[in-house]
Amino acid sequence: MEIVICPDAVQAGRLGADAITTLIRRKPDGVLGLATGSSPLGIYDELARRHEAGELSFANARGFTLDEYVGLATEHPETYHNVIRKDFVNRVDFADGAVRGPDGLSDDIPAFCRSYEEAIAAAGGIDLQILGIGTDGHIGFNEPGSSLASRTRIKTLTKQTRIDNARFFGGDIDQVPTHCITQGLGTIMAARHVVLVASGHGKAEAVHQLAEGSVSAMWPGTILQHHPHVTVLLDEAAASRLQLSDYYRETYHAKPAWQGL
Ligand code: GLP
Repeated sequence: MEIVICPDAVQAGRLGADAITTLIRRKPDGVLGLATGSSPLGIYDELARRHEAGELSFANARGFTLDEYVGLATEHPETYHNVIRKDFVNRVDFADGAVRGPDGLSDDIPAFCRSYEEAIAAAGGIDLQILGIGTDGHIGFNEPGSSLASRTRIKTLTKQTRIDNARFFGGDIDQVPTHCITQGLGTIMAARHVVLVASGHGKAEAVHQLAEGSVSAMWPGTILQHHPHVTVLLDEAAASRLQLSDYYRETYHAKPAWQGL
């Protein structure tokens, strides 16, 4: 797991965008795993800027979103289907239908979840998965207690996550759905490269556990310690509880340029 401590979230976003730019230039039909939430916005803003500047095209790229609320109406602005389009997909040039996501209105959720896993496999698997992290250490919507081998399935959101996400629902926790469909920890682990981005003091404990805690279903992101290629992009605040922060800084500064992220 490579930890990169950036001066601010803008720089973290630039580095995340660099990793995606490198992938899409090398493999124009690359498969992206797309996270919603505030954490990846810096990455998406920078990718949209590069696209607008004519530097980057997603015309042949494909994407799968990580998760979705169950039961929100199609036109609800907070479905992750709509959020990822507003934040990223509609700002670049993905082909119609190239970015898919879990169907939170499916009337057979287990069958849908199996078909989602099959669709990811049929696309050749995810080349680069973007992730944020919840204050309780969840990735996707894999809440504490999630099976470390889980695949796409329905989950119940914790009260903490619903409190955290109430800001997107007029501050009213009762408007936040209780259930979601999320790629599992096993699904995320199958991505070839994972880029996790976090900023702010609220994420500092989750980031410390992610990188330095014991692998445990209580901090679901810790499963990434078993992944061979994870890049963690942090601002100073999110890095503030790391025990080995000096070492991570030295390592990154001394890194040979040819290694990339
Ligand atoms: C949300 C999403 C996650 C996201 C996380 C952090 O509930 N399901 O994909 O990474 O929680 O959100 P944010 O980036 O807004 O802090």
